[in-house]
Amino acid sequence: MNESDALAVVTGAGSGMGRAIALGLAESGRRVAALDINEGTAQETVEMIRGKGGDATAFQLDIADAEAVVAVRDEVVAHYGTARIVVNNAGWEEIHPFMETTTDFRIKIMSINLLGAMAVSHAFLEGMIAEGLGGRVVNISSDAGRVGSSGEVVYSGAKGGLIGFTKALAREMARHKICVNCVCPGPTDTAMLHGAPKKLTDSLARVIPMGRLAQPEDVMHAVRFFTSDDTSYITGQTLSVSGGLTMAG
Ligand SMILES: NC(=O)c1ccc[n+]([C@@H]2O[C@H](COP(=O)([O-])OP(=O)(O)OC[C@H]3O[C@@H](n4cnc5c(N)ncnc54)[C@H](O)[C@@H]3O)[C@@H](O)[C@H]2O)c1
Repeated sequence: MNESDALAVVTGAGSGMGRAIALGLAESGRRVAALDINEGTAQETVEMIRGKGGDATAFQLDIADAEAVVAVRDEVVAHYGTARIVVNNAGWEEIHPFMETTTDFRIKIMSINLLGAMAVSHAFLEGMIAEGLGGRVVNISSDAGRVGSSGEVVYSGAKGGLIGFTKALAREMARHKICVNCVCPGPTDTAMLHGAPKKLTDSLARVIPMGRLAQPEDVMHAVRFFTSDDTSYITGQTLSVSGGLTMAG
């Protein structure tokens, strides 16, 4: 991980935390492959990075489509070479009481939030392992996956699964000098939360010890920590970025 211009693949790079992470890693000198189901917003992120002198390219991808993941991995590698950093940030949810959810909804939540991260990791780790230079995977889970969240039962299951996936993958990847860690944001001021009633976000801000929602940049700093050259002995860890809302052991 000694080259500062190592390629970082960021999923969901067209909005919220993914955009902040892509910009933050580019600011650290990383080349960035900005993946998103929404090509237009990914391209906007790329223009922002290029505007600051960075190197980034947008790739359209639905991470729930396993065949498309492999095809886009091939495009990214053809363009930039092997990825050294993968940030599984793309996610999706809608708030519904569990008993009102349908099978299709549950499959969609799992396909994007858990299986998508697995597919992207599997695709990009192949080259990372073969190259033998080590690397980093950072999974963006959620505090919902650590402590559970009403109205987000399936999502909590997917995000909890992502934490277990992180730990087990970290064990398998350690021999390849690839660190795998997990960041769990608390309520964060992004499009995902903008659909929630203001009354709910105001009350969340009141119970957060730091007295405010997270900003996407708060999460980006945790990702930069896990992808820095100084953290090559930290793996399998779960870090909440929640202003003290959850203090899970
Ligand atoms: N906002 C919060 O309060 C909060 C809290 C905890 C965890 N998270 C997690 O943080 C991550 C980032 O979320 P955000 O708040 O920035 O949300 P966001 O909605 O602003 O951004 C999500 C991005 O993922 C992309 N995306 C969605 N489905 C995709 C798919 N199938 N394939 C590829 N890209 C897809 C979207 O187009 C969007 O650009 C997600 O994993 C989310 O679950 C969010």
